[in-house]
Amino acid sequence: MTMKLLTSSASPFGRKVKVVAIEKGLMERIDIVMLSTSPSAPNEQLARENPLIKIPTLLPEGGRPIPDSFVVCDYLDSLHGGERVIPASGPRRWEVLTVHTLGHGICEAGVLCRYENALRPEQFRWPDWFAGQMKKIDGSLAWLESNTAAVGDPGAANVDIGQVAVGCALGYLDFRFAELNWRAAHPRLAGWFGEFGARASMQRTVPTA
Ligand code: BEZ
Repeated sequence: MTMKLLTSSASPFGRKVKVVAIEKGLMERIDIVMLSTSPSAPNEQLARENPLIKIPTLLPEGGRPIPDSFVVCDYLDSLHGGERVIPASGPRRWEVLTVHTLGHGICEAGVLCRYENALRPEQFRWPDWFAGQMKKIDGSLAWLESNTAAVGDPGAANVDIGQVAVGCALGYLDFRFAELNWRAAHPRLAGWFGEFGARASMQRTVPTA
C-alpha cells in the first residue's frame, strides 16, 4: 500500500514535500496525484480531504489526511531512520525553523502575487497590496543573502527543511517571477542555489505549468 500526495507540478509547497521524500528515500512509497486548484476554482476532490482546500495534502496509508507541507514533512521524518530534516532539539532546530519560515514566507507571498497577476480581474487589483507582498520577498532575500551560512552547506549529505524551503522558494521565483532577476543583488544566495538546485531531488522536481 502506498501513500497519496495531492499536489500540483507548479506548487513550491508540494515541491518541498517531494524533495524531502526523494532525499529520504520515501518516494517509491508515495503516489503523486496531480490536481489543479485555486482560491477562485477550488478542487472538489481536495476539498473532501482537506477543508482548507490546499496542496499539498498527504493521504497516509489508512490514516487521516495530513494538510500543510511542514506537517507532511514532519510526518515523513517519522517514517525514515536517517537524520531528520526537522531537527528535534538544540540550537540548530531554531536556526533551521527560522530559515524555513523565511523560505516558506517567500513562497506564500509569491503565490499570492501570482494569483493577483494571473487570476484577479484587472479592475480589482491593488498595487499597494502587491508592493507589500513584494517587500516581504525582498526583505527575506536580503536576510538570506546576509546569512547564507545559516542556510547551511548546499552539498550536505543530509538536507534540512530550511534548505529545502529556500531552494523551493528560489525555484518558484525563477519559475513565476524571472523578471525580478533576484540573483543580481544576491550573489551569495545565487551561488548557494547553483549548488543546491543541482541536487537530483531538485532536478527531478523542477516546476512546470
Ligand atoms: C502556480 O501556478 O504558480 C501555483 C499553483 C499551485 C500552487 C501554487 C502556485
